[in-house]
Amino acid sequence: MASQQQQQKGVDTDTMTLTRFVLTEQRKVPQATGELTQLLTAMCTAIKAVSTAVRKAGIAKLHGMAGGSNIQGEDQHKIDVIANKLFINMLKSSFTTCVLVSEENENIIEVETDKQGKYVVSFDPLDGSSNIDCLVSIGSIFSIVKKRSEGTPGLDDALQPGNQIVAAGYALYGSATMVMLSTGQGVNGFMLDPAIGEFLLTERNVKIKPRGKYYSINEGYSQYWDEATKEYVQNKKFPKEGNPYNARYIGSMVADVHRTVMYGGIFVYPAHKKAPKGKLRLLYECNPMAYIIEQAGGIASTGTQRVLDVVPESIHQRVPIVLGSPEDVNEYLDCVKKHQN
Ligand code: AHG
Ligand code: MN
Ligand code: MN
Repeated sequence: MASQQQQQKGVDTDTMTLTRFVLTEQRKVPQATGELTQLLTAMCTAIKAVSTAVRKAGIAKLHGMAGGSNIQGEDQHKIDVIANKLFINMLKSSFTTCVLVSEENENIIEVETDKQGKYVVSFDPLDGSSNIDCLVSIGSIFSIVKKRSEGTPGLDDALQPGNQIVAAGYALYGSATMVMLSTGQGVNGFMLDPAIGEFLLTERNVKIKPRGKYYSINEGYSQYWDEATKEYVQNKKFPKEGNPYNARYIGSMVADVHRTVMYGGIFVYPAHKKAPKGKLRLLYECNPMAYIIEQAGGIASTGTQRVLDVVPESIHQRVPIVLGSPEDVNEYLDCVKKHQN
């Protein structure tokens, strides 16, 4: 809470912006050079520009399809393409990155030698495409690792497991624009104040509830589920004791995960008969979310393994995911184990 002096006539004269917060956090890291702060500042600029594009998309005729499809065969919306360009341009020109992985690009993006820095960034520039044109919440997701090879940066630097992440987060373009960020010292949330164009710290050291009351899964696929998932969801609807859980599924991972972080509960995108490896992508969807969830005290698993320990084999690899409140996720994992035997 700002002191009376800092709250002169309702104006906080000592606001904690995201950049200021990261600068302060990085001062505690003896070997920090300021490069990560610079990268996150560029990331925030891209997010602000995407937020503005999302907010005016209907008026500026940015809704609708771009006419192409990405590597996963998914149709690209105009705003997917704009968000991708914004991220790539801002990250390259920050002089802090060497390799970028985007959902929208088939191959890794190599940053020009004269602009290279030591970080590798994987991102989903716009998540929740099916929700864009009807104004339901969408988001952006990112994770950052350090280049690990000695020589020219390349694919091997991109294929690092999530346990190497140095910072990750997401932006939610919801009823307000919010960034949830972790640099490995817990999770903090920053809301965009459109009046000053800055992200202000509003959620300090967010911790997930041990147990929630929401389950979040696309039930339209229930006929394709494995027995463990079927049993788990059935138990949520018809518990032996207590009240049933409430169902919540937005279809934008960022929005579904953000609700899980804030209110607790469980989010599952399992492998099923029609999607044998699940749908969500390891590098730029599952890993960043797993990192945030763990930093908030939750669990993120593929069903058989910690998400952050999966060693990626390709940049668009998919993995099944279950994440959220520890008691809820453990209950799901118990179901998985029971059906393995
Ligand atoms: P994207 O828009 O980046 O392709 O991601 C969409 C994802 C994710 O946001 C969401 O959790 C999931 O797709 C929903 O998939 P279903 O429609 O199969 O439930
Ligand atoms: Mn996505
Ligand atoms: Mn996307």
